[in-house]
Amino acid sequence: MEGPATVLFTAGDIRERVRELGKAITRDYAGREPVLISVLKGGAWFHADLLRAIGGHASVDFMSISAYGESSSGVVRILKDLDRDIGGRDVVVLEDIVDTGLTLTYLLSTLRARRPATLEVCALLDKSARRITPIDIRYRGFDCPDKFVLGYGLDYGEVYRNLPFIVAVEDLEALSQDPLALAPLLGEAGDSYR
Ligand code: IMP
Ligand code: MG
Repeated sequence: MEGPATVLFTAGDIRERVRELGKAITRDYAGREPVLISVLKGGAWFHADLLRAIGGHASVDFMSISAYGESSSGVVRILKDLDRDIGGRDVVVLEDIVDTGLTLTYLLSTLRARRPATLEVCALLDKSARRITPIDIRYRGFDCPDKFVLGYGLDYGEVYRNLPFIVAVEDLEALSQDPLALAPLLGEAGDSYR
């Protein structure tokens, strides 16, 4: 019998992979100043770590979006727009996870209309089995199994974002009955943080 959640990527796995992504971006954008756009809130943890793994100029901006209604149509409402114009800039959109790809497809079309010089995607997790609209993910952290995952920014009802590792939920039904079913993981995370 499996536990309610299993660790997919440890804090060390994430650190290592983020370092590699940072190196790739540093190399590809040498001599330029890309603007790294993060989609709040889930992307903020990845954004903060990736930025510190980039060994060149990079600026940051944030966007906050919310899905319209319940259904996942991909059409989103912009709750907070970018502070700066991205016209003529080299833009990299950072996402915590790409699932169906609907949200990102909509977001990319909105950003493309602002005429950036280049527009690429960097996603920590790629749940490719669930993709509905194809997305070219230039920088990909990990391929993610078709399971609900939590931690390192990813939440369930705003809980569990502070886990420094990423877990796959084995019993989503139990979690929906009791959103704090995995709370012991939070204590473990706090104790092991360094
Ligand atoms: P998409 O439009 O289906 O690609 O939705 C992507 C968004 O759904 C992500 O940015 C997350 O906020 C959320 N999401 C998708 N899968 C998961 C998951 O396994 N755990 C937590 N959030 C998820
Ligand atoms: Mg998100």
